[in-house]
Parts: sequence; C-alpha cells; structure tokens
Amino acid sequence: MSRILITSAIPYINGIKHLGNLVGSQLPADLYARYMRGRGHEVLFLCATDEHGTPAELAAAKAGKPVAEYCAEMHEVQARIAAGFRLSFDKFGRSSSPQNRHLTQHFAGKLADAGLIREQSEKQVYSVADGRFLPDRYIEGTCPNCGYDKARGDQCENCTKQLDPTDLIDPRSAISGSTDLEVRETKHLYLRQSALKDELLAWIDSKTDWPVLTTSIARKWLTDGDGLQDRGITRDLDWGVPVQRGEEPWPGMEGKVFYVWFDAPIEYIACAKEWADANGEPDSAWERWWRTEHGAHDVRYVQFMGKDNVPFHTLSFPATILGANSQPGEDWKLVDYIKSFNYLTYDGGQFSTSQGRGVFMDQALSILPADYWRWWLLSHAPETSDAEFTWENFQASVNKDLADVLGNFVSRVTKFCRSKFGETVPEGGSLGPREEALIADLGERIAAYQAAMEAIEVRKSAQELRAIWVTGNEYLQNAAPWTVYKSDPEAAAAMVRLSLNLISLYAVLSAPFIPDAAAKMLDAMDDAGAPWPDDVGAALERLKPGHAFTTPEVLFAKISDEEREEWQKRFAGIRS
Ligand code: MF3
Ligand code: ZN
Repeated sequence: MSRILITSAIPYINGIKHLGNLVGSQLPADLYARYMRGRGHEVLFLCATDEHGTPAELAAAKAGKPVAEYCAEMHEVQARIAAGFRLSFDKFGRSSSPQNRHLTQHFAGKLADAGLIREQSEKQVYSVADGRFLPDRYIEGTCPNCGYDKARGDQCENCTKQLDPTDLIDPRSAISGSTDLEVRETKHLYLRQSALKDELLAWIDSKTDWPVLTTSIARKWLTDGDGLQDRGITRDLDWGVPVQRGEEPWPGMEGKVFYVWFDAPIEYIACAKEWADANGEPDSAWERWWRTEHGAHDVRYVQFMGKDNVPFHTLSFPATILGANSQPGEDWKLVDYIKSFNYLTYDGGQFSTSQGRGVFMDQALSILPADYWRWWLLSHAPETSDAEFTWENFQASVNKDLADVLGNFVSRVTKFCRSKFGETVPEGGSLGPREEALIADLGERIAAYQAAMEAIEVRKSAQELRAIWVTGNEYLQNAAPWTVYKSDPEAAAAMVRLSLNLISLYAVLSAPFIPDAAAKMLDAMDDAGAPWPDDVGAALERLKPGHAFTTPEVLFAKISDEEREEWQKRFAGIRS
C-alpha cells in the first residue's frame, strides 16, 4: 500500500464551470483518486476554489456584493455541484482561507531570505476611462509571440505564452475597451525564476515518464528566447493575500496583495491544513503529505490540469517550492507526475465561460444524473488532442455503452434469475470450459484495465472497462442459460450464479467511472463491501448459493431522439 496525494487545478470562484473545465482536471483527478482508493492505497485528494484576483472582484461588483460574501456564496455553490458530480475530494478548500494567507506569506518570506525576490519599480497600465490600474488580464491586445489579437495581459490563450501587459501590441482596456491607457509608476516584487532556470530544466529533464503535452510546454518556456523570465508576484488590488514577509510587514509594499497565481498553487498545501484543521487533527496529519522530513518522502504526488495551466505548475510553482527549500528547515514536496489535458470543444465551437457557450455543470445535472456525464466525458477525455462534444455522440455513447452493454447485462441476469430461481443466488451445477475461458479472459482484461488506470490513460481505461462489460455480455449470449434451463436447470443455475457475481465484480471495477450506478449494483446484490477482484475466479464465487439479492430498477435510461433534439436546441445558444 502506498500514499498518493492528488490535486486538481483549483477552479476560479467566479461562476459555474462548464464540462470542458470539468474533464480537464477535476473529473480525471476524481477517477484516479477513486481507483487508487479502490486498490487499497491511502489517498489524499484535494481541490479548492481559486478566490483572489480581479475576476473575483469584478464578479462580486457585478453581483452587487462585498467580495468576501460573494466568494463564500459561490464556494458553496461550487461545492454543491462538485458533490452532485460525485467528486470525492477529501477537502474542497478556499484559497482565501487563513491557512493559505499564512502559508503564502511564509513562502514569500523564505524566498526573500533565499535572495530570490527583488523589488522593481515599474510602470503599470492605468486606465483613465476606468479610473484604475488595470490588472494584467484586463488588458487585451495582440500577442507578440503568435499574433493572436485577443491575447490577455497575463497569458495568450492561443499559444499559452505567459505575458506581461506591456508586451501586448495595441493594448486596450478589457473593461471598457478604452485605449486611453496611461503608464504610471508603482513598485512590485519579482520572483527571480531566471535564477532557478537550470535547476528547473534539470528537474523537467528527469521526468522522462511525463506526458509529452506537459514536458513540451515546460521546455518551451525554459529554453525559448531568453529563457525563463522573472515573474511579478504582487498587484495593486484590495482583495488578496496582503504582502508580508512571513509574519513581518514588507516596507514599501503596504496596500498591495500577492498575485493570484502566486497564492493559488500554495492553496494545494494550505488545503491539506484546512482538511486537518477541519478534522481537529494536528499539523503532523497534513505535514506527512507535504513535508518530506515529516513523512512525505514516500508520498506520490500527482497533479491534474488543463494545458493552459501547465506553465504555472511546471515552472512557477516548482520555483516557489525549490526556492523555499533552499532555506533551513524547509522541505516541501515537489510534484511527481503532472497529467495535463487538451481542450474539449462544444458542437463545432469552443466552450466559453465568458460567452456562456456550451453546457455548464449545473445545467448538465439538471437534465441527467452524474454517471451519464462522467462516462461520456472520461471516455472522450481530450488527452492526445482536443475532443469534441456533440449531442449525437453523447446519446450514442450513453445508449450503447451504458444502457445496451452494462445496464442490459445487469437487468437480464437479475430478471432471468428472479423468474426461474427467485431472488437468491441459485445452487447446483459447476463451471465448465466456457466459464474457465471467461475467467482467463477477464483476468487479462482486468490487468490491462489496471495498467491503463495506473498510467492515467483515461480514454484507454474506459475502453478496457467497456471491453470487460462486453465480455460478460458475450458470455451470457453464448452460454444462453434461458435455453440451457429447459434441458439442464443445474447447468443454467451455475451460469446465473457466475453472472450474478459478475455484477458485483463490474460494480467494483466501474465505480471510479460511474460511482452511483456501481453503488446501486452493489446494493442490489447486497454486497456493499465487495473488494477489488485480485483473483477473478475467487471473486466470481463470492456470492454463495442462497445469498439474497434484489432486481434493480433500470440502471441507465436511454436518451431518445426527441430528448437529444430538445437539449441540442436548449443549449445551442448563449447562457444568460
Ligand atoms: N484557477 C485556475 C484556472 O482555472 C487554476 C489554478 S490552479 C493553481 O485556470 F495552481 F493555481 F492552483
Ligand atoms: Zn500568442
């Protein structure tokens, strides 16, 4: 048994996320967490809301609420929807927590002690029309790297390059569109990432097993042009972590806060403390996950995120950790594996939060249960390239995989048994060559499924799982206990007994993908504690003759053409 720390990129507080956001980090992270727990490992799975920065301030202003109140409310909304999707976080924290404030100031202090922070007087864009300094992402313009004309001042979402607003060509205010921008003087702190460039490059080079999507993005920013740039980590805003050097004030930095991208990843750590504090546990309970000298040396730490987040997780956050770790007594854990995702597109275009295009998490749950979405999203995860959501594809996948293959198997077996033998596992008969072949086949397929899950190959895992379901269906079809029953009821009983056991086995294997259906299946089989099937033969003999079960109601309802068309229409437009 090992210990696995899992974090998902923490979603911005402003607004409900769409399905593209979900499949890019939280959902695959949940799949992995559930699988690892299922295999008996000790897992700590953390996520939080990313609450600082201008987007939160502006969204609160728009909602007519104080920003702290707005964030508290939206955190509850996001937590409820996450629970609706069965995201099994051990803690869903908040980057605005006191724990994160403390840790963020702690890291800044250690980085300063290490000589890795410098002050820089700089000119910042001030919008005369808006009467304020414009935060980076509220300046739009043309990307100097790729020419994209809607690049934001912090990052170009077309080529993923991290930018400073003054890099933009033809800048304008994203709030008012005004080009009446002035440059004014202000002082900020910079993290000297450039001083850590060689260390970071060596670290990335040592990660030979990481997805190419992850390492290629990291390497690009380490080696392109002048290499890794120093990063401004403070802002002229009210809402955020006040700039302090540990517990001490930071002369000259009064009234400023840390940049949201500085404190957000530190929330991964703070969230573990929030978790321990909420459970009344001492600091040792979370430090054994995060501090190598406090027991975390053998923890495996895996992060999940969309590709636009990769530079921050491969460069900026590791720079924070490595820099702090150069100081005595600092022993923070670096990530061991970064799983990143491409984008999910929606019906021929982009999902877009700002434009309200696509299906959002709350809307999805209002039309179908979580498992339907989980299955489609995970089995179509945008791993090696972008993937597209279409309603036709969604309908086909739900109807075929979930209803025709898995659902049908469960219903056929339980109904047939009920009609011939009653609602208990039947006795008599024994396993023949067909069953032995099935067990051997399942053994191989389960090994392949496990290998894909361990490698976090999400689509491949889904395919392997589906193949396992298909194998059972084919067995049932070929064995045909309904025919055999007429001449040899004992032989039919053995087939049914094995098939009923298969329902439990399927439930355990499928739970990471479709936890609700899995729970229903185990409930129907009265087999809640069924273990992982390390030995398939033994697993298929667990439910003994006489064990009572109930025939479950329909596991998965098919999506009709009418429904599909109705949803297609309803979600064609823009969410208001
Ligand atoms: N809120 C960011 C986004 O949705 C992700 C932040 S991840 C962390 O793109 F590293 F900052 F935690
Ligand atoms: Zn660009």
